[in-house]
Amino acid sequence: MTFSTFLNFLFPPPPSLFITTMSVITCVSLANAGINEVRGKHLNYSKFWNVENNNGDKKKKKMIKLSSKSGMLLLYTPAFVAGAASFLVFPDDGFRSLVLQGAVTFHFFKRVFEVLFVHKYSGSMALETAIPITLSYFLSSATLIYAQHLTSNLPEPSIDLLYPGIALFLVGVTGNFYHHYLLSKLRGKGEKEYKIPKGGLFDFVICPHYLFEIIGFYGFSFISQTLYSFSFAIGTTFYLLGRSYATREWYLSKFDDFPKNVKAIIPFWF
Ligand SMILES: NC(=O)c1ccc[n+]([C@@H]2O[C@H](COP(=O)([O-])OP(=O)(O)OC[C@H]3O[C@@H](n4cnc5c(N)ncnc54)[C@H](OP(=O)(O)O)[C@@H]3O)[C@@H](O)[C@H]2O)c1
Repeated sequence: MTFSTFLNFLFPPPPSLFITTMSVITCVSLANAGINEVRGKHLNYSKFWNVENNNGDKKKKKMIKLSSKSGMLLLYTPAFVAGAASFLVFPDDGFRSLVLQGAVTFHFFKRVFEVLFVHKYSGSMALETAIPITLSYFLSSATLIYAQHLTSNLPEPSIDLLYPGIALFLVGVTGNFYHHYLLSKLRGKGEKEYKIPKGGLFDFVICPHYLFEIIGFYGFSFISQTLYSFSFAIGTTFYLLGRSYATREWYLSKFDDFPKNVKAIIPFWF
């Protein structure tokens, strides 16, 4: 596909050094984090909080620990506030911007809601893990919306993806929520152990919630049609491919009866 064909789907990249730099940094840093997951250098939360090695153990004693619930609230709240504030900061940027602002705000509101009322956590999160993720979510959501603002006086891309984007976003959030619900049903009140998830797409892949998150993020891109939105979705895809690969390896090492036909994130393939 030539660059000019690609431009049929995109607003012209704005002459903004900030947006150009963020497009590169977001995609490269997320992809790098995904490669690190495959290499065994995990973000320190959830199952991978307890992955032990000699050096890691010593270092972990010096880490400031948050409960997973507090850590996750810290991760998502600033991004939610950025989305909600954007309605006041950019109130008149047109329908596409309004839909994007609504989608970003709803996504992070849903995450805060799930942290408070759906997920049942067993562990902790290191503050040094939580801070960069918090900054990255906050900056990404603010940049998504600001990049859209910069398109408000530009001609629309010749191929309009707004409505397919809304559909993708809705499929993404619904599928993601449903699989979070199935995960939460694995534990009774106060229970902390891990079990093999069942139901929904868990019978085909071990991280269907990541798959639907990726679908939802391409929903943002299709709604937005900015270069930044695609850089964010592509970077997220690489990160979640890496994390899902590491998650499948973790299940294989922990459960002798883990079904080998259950892939990481893409049914029958990966
Ligand atoms: N956009 C991004 O870059 C990005 C990055 C990461 C995550 N996310 C999204 O955030 C959401 C949550 O991700 P996550 O990595 O926190 O998911 P996760 O590790 O699968 O955990 C989700 C919840 O399910 C519980 N859980 C997981 N496996 C379980 C099992 N086998 N038995 C019982 N409970 C289990 C976890 O408990 P414990 O905490 O006790 O493990 C946690 O409460 C996902 O939808 C993901 O797509 C997005």
